Amino acid sequence: MRELRRKCSLCGKEAVVYIPYQRRYYCKEHFIEFLVNKVRSTIKRYKLIRSRDKVLVALSGGKDSAVLLDILLKLSSYFNFKLAAVHIDLGIGNFSDESREIVKEQTKRLGVNLVIVAVNEILGIDLTELSRKARRPPCSTCGLVKRYLLNLVALTSGASKLALGHNADDIMAYSFKSFLTQDLRYISKLGAFTESIERLAVGRIRPLYEVYEFETKLYARLLDIPVVKSRCPHFRPNQMEIELKKIINDIEQERPGMKLSFLRKFMRNLKEYPEIKGRIVPCKYCGMISSTGECSFCRITRKVFGKPMGSKVKEYMNKLLKDKILWYS
Ligand code: FES
Ligand code: ZN
Ligand code: ZN
Repeated sequence: MRELRRKCSLCGKEAVVYIPYQRRYYCKEHFIEFLVNKVRSTIKRYKLIRSRDKVLVALSGGKDSAVLLDILLKLSSYFNFKLAAVHIDLGIGNFSDESREIVKEQTKRLGVNLVIVAVNEILGIDLTELSRKARRPPCSTCGLVKRYLLNLVALTSGASKLALGHNADDIMAYSFKSFLTQDLRYISKLGAFTESIERLAVGRIRPLYEVYEFETKLYARLLDIPVVKSRCPHFRPNQMEIELKKIINDIEQERPGMKLSFLRKFMRNLKEYPEIKGRIVPCKYCGMISSTGECSFCRITRKVFGKPMGSKVKEYMNKLLKDKILWYS
């Protein structure tokens, strides 16, 4: 970012940021307005939200999902949708305790209803223990469990969209990694949305698709949004993604707007990339989405507990959400 002693291009107040691809300086108020408008345009461009949608935001405690919730709330009356939030408590020591408190704070200050689902409470063991017993790396177990539980909360609560906080830098790094390794299997999943599948999967949307990482950082800082300070102890930096982000940002510096133009073209070409082929069938144990008749959650819990836990978790979720008024109107 450029050294600032400049004035906002819109109002002449002191600027807090320069946005190179716009060739504009913004003061605090105009930067916030700019970012909210950017997300509004993204939602329109990719038709992410319809009138009367119920949008469930997955909150991790980090800055991206917190900024997403803040901006979606500001846009909820414009698009006429309802909003609620969900957090998966993985039970990973202090990190999860802190995340849990932070997401409560994030939602309380905005008046958005939150549902917390604790892995410990439904399975009797935490994520670390589950991954150890399943002999899988914690991060891949975590991804599997979170995907399952988020989809289950979304389906049970009647959400029509599940909103995720991935930003432009994340998506670009993932897609470049797919090109470099020529592992194109998941590339079709890197769009701004996935479609819902009746009774099996709630469509996912990424409203921060065109928002740069430095923009969410600045937005969170300017609005004093509380975010988790500690890091998950299982976190291992993915060296290739870090390097790719750096290279991408170097190119962006030379050619401001390159990321935006890449993402828009990428979205247009997405259907040309290979899709993961396979059947979509309900899991015979829990009725959730699977490709083999047994979902990955039932498979992993069967390995660990000797029986699939999907249907038990479904019952738990029905009880948890039964009398909960989740939807903010
Ligand atoms: Fe999932 Fe660390 S947050 S393993
Ligand atoms: Zn201004
Ligand atoms: Zn299942």
